[in-house]
Amino acid sequence: MNNERERWTSRSSFIIASIGAAIGLGNVWRFPYICYENGGGAFLIPYFVALLTAGIPLMIVEFGLGRRMQAGAPTAFAKVRKGTEWVGWLALMVVMLIFLYYPVIMAWCVDYVTYAFNLGWGTDAKTFFESEFLQLSGGPGFLAGIRWPIVIGLAVVWAAIYLCLFKGIKALSKIVFYTVIIPWVILVIMVIRGLTLPGALEGLKFYLTPNFSALVNPRVWLAAYGQIFFTLSLAMGTMIVYSSYLKRRSDIANNSFIVSLANCGTSFFAGFAVFSILGYLAQAMGVGVPEVTKSGFGLAFITYPTAIRLLPFIPAFFGVIFFILLLTLGIDSAFSQIEPFVAGFTDKWKFNKNWVLPIVCIVGFLIGIIFTTRGGFYWLDIVDYFANTFGLTLVGLLECIVIGYIYKAHKMREYVNEVSEFQIGKWWDVCITIITPIILGISFVLSVVTLIQKGYGDYPAWATLIGVCIAIGIIVLSFVLMSMRAKKLAESEPESSESA
Ligand code: PFF
Repeated sequence: MNNERERWTSRSSFIIASIGAAIGLGNVWRFPYICYENGGGAFLIPYFVALLTAGIPLMIVEFGLGRRMQAGAPTAFAKVRKGTEWVGWLALMVVMLIFLYYPVIMAWCVDYVTYAFNLGWGTDAKTFFESEFLQLSGGPGFLAGIRWPIVIGLAVVWAAIYLCLFKGIKALSKIVFYTVIIPWVILVIMVIRGLTLPGALEGLKFYLTPNFSALVNPRVWLAAYGQIFFTLSLAMGTMIVYSSYLKRRSDIANNSFIVSLANCGTSFFAGFAVFSILGYLAQAMGVGVPEVTKSGFGLAFITYPTAIRLLPFIPAFFGVIFFILLLTLGIDSAFSQIEPFVAGFTDKWKFNKNWVLPIVCIVGFLIGIIFTTRGGFYWLDIVDYFANTFGLTLVGLLECIVIGYIYKAHKMREYVNEVSEFQIGKWWDVCITIITPIILGISFVLSVVTLIQKGYGDYPAWATLIGVCIAIGIIVLSFVLMSMRAKKLAESEPESSESA
């Protein structure tokens, strides 16, 4: 790798790539079920408050940091202050946990595209998913052998990730255009289909009617902040590394608003597709919308397939495009998880990206095989819980402290305002130094207390303990990576090292 940093071909490719990184399975699968579990319409208010008080302010932090320091997360933090480099490594360790299991969910989608041609899940999508497809074992203690169809799907997904990334940022600029437009076209088709079904209105009523009493429940607020972090791909190093490929004097404030609003607008829009179908399913089953499903996780693989099978007109077509929708949504999020990881190593040790990338893809695939076993689903659930509940909150909190208090919020704001199309006011300092850290701090402490009191889910205590060990392990590993000597850590002023 030569010393010249890669660049996006245009501002729009940066914006589209960031939107693609943010929009993923989280918008069509996680957002609707979190919304469903937290009172439907009631959830939308905390969700948009979280977007304004934490999502957009932190997006500005990440775009500002990456753009200013011209490096991936660890080196960018090291340039703020040497000792904070581990925050960047921690972000990459969390994203590593996510990129080990995220492609496995995409592998399920690959398999489900093939099943959708003849609606292979039959009349009982739940039994098909759990007993025939995953062939769930008795618990996390029994891996009970590999499920080869999932391994094949996983190989396809990792090969696709590699092919998208190996030519570098310039090629990515073109690919993301398709991986953002195609899912939007499919989403529009799904929304039109959903809204024209009987019962759709009931689903939408549940989705859109605010239930103000849910607003006093702190759990609903925590879920909203958690979802905002996940959906905007914050606290994972992705947005930092993407903005480090921006050219000199590129806007930050406006780009942050565009990316955040486009992502959350997509989730809101996807809600129409999902809730209209849930309304239809509720009517077909003769139950109320809140009773349609108990399993949030199963929304995409149980509830939706059940509804698709009942569609009056070419159900197989809608089944196929639904899973292609998930795949095209997921692929740009998946490679946006690999890029910060690879950049973290190449920035610090000047390794050659041409061989770091294939190694990461192969190792990611091999470790991912654990999640393709009959007991893998339980581990996927456990890792997802630890990475999202603890990892993202902790990294987000540390980011606020490093930028708000060590680098100083006003200094970052002045830098952002210098290059941006519009000015951000002091409200941003308040969000970064007070509101966001307080909420993330409370959320982190509450999660720890709940974990200590109740463990996680119905899993045996030793499984939770392994989760805790993984969490402690990645914190230790971040310190180890920080203390390893860098080949050449540029001490120069960030702006002057630029060649754009
Ligand atoms: N934001 C993505 C989604 O909503 O599906 C998930 C994601 C993307 C997680 C990128 C992590 C990441 F680095």
